[in-house]
Amino acid sequence: MNWLKKQKCGSVPVKQVPAHIGIIMDGNGRWAKKRGLPRSAGHSAGAETFKKIVQYCSKIGLKHLTVYAFSTENWRRPAAEVTFLMGLFEQYLNDALKDFEQRNIKVVFLGDKSAFSPNLQRLIADIEQVSQSKTGMVLNVAMNYGGRSEIIRAAKAIASDVKDGKLSVEAIDEKVFADKLYTEGQPDPDLIIRPSGEKRLSNFLLWQSAYTEFVFMNVLWPDFSEKDLDLAIDEYAARNRRFGGV
Ligand code: IPE
Ligand code: IPE
Ligand code: MG
Repeated sequence: MNWLKKQKCGSVPVKQVPAHIGIIMDGNGRWAKKRGLPRSAGHSAGAETFKKIVQYCSKIGLKHLTVYAFSTENWRRPAAEVTFLMGLFEQYLNDALKDFEQRNIKVVFLGDKSAFSPNLQRLIADIEQVSQSKTGMVLNVAMNYGGRSEIIRAAKAIASDVKDGKLSVEAIDEKVFADKLYTEGQPDPDLIIRPSGEKRLSNFLLWQSAYTEFVFMNVLWPDFSEKDLDLAIDEYAARNRRFGGV
């Protein structure tokens, strides 16, 4: 069922509609293995799913989407797989640039970009530049992202501000801290979806997910459809969020 339609006919209270969805795009390797294909084929298929789901989220009016594309731990994979993934990121971001522009999507990259090739870094900078004037869906692409390294980075930035006399220790609160994260100024994710059957965060949005609802699904990412997203949103809408209250 389409959740926006539900919102319109009033069966889902507006507060139950997620403003921010996170997706851990997992299961590409297993999808390929099942078909006797190399893992790279799974990543290519997963990239197509990424494109399809971004378009769908933008179409249904989602405000913030965060996709986990490459973790700080994914460098541990065989060099050939990492090289393939970096090539795929370049190709996809290049192709998507126009599409993002046309759909008024504002792209934000979460993670340490300095580890990427000069070409990829240039492409990211171009997309960020074009994105500045966009007012539609915010698409956060987590690439070379790790929740722990993001928190350490924020702690260092705060320590440096204190050292320089720009901030007092007493003034440090959750808001000050959150403003030093890559997601600065954005709401926390209401819902995180992880396909592939794994039931863990794998270092995704550790700070931001304090009160997030999780939906774990058995479908592998390359097979993930618009309908799966609707199902996850329906499950989310039926949850009772309490935030520590009653
Ligand atoms: C997710 O799929 C893609 C990345 C982590 C880059 P995987 O490659 O982790 O697929 P599985 O988990 O091995 O099936
Ligand atoms: C998490 O998936 C990272 C991304 C999907 C980008 P992994 O496949 O790396 O996670 P683990 O190793 O199963 O925890
Ligand atoms: Mg995996």
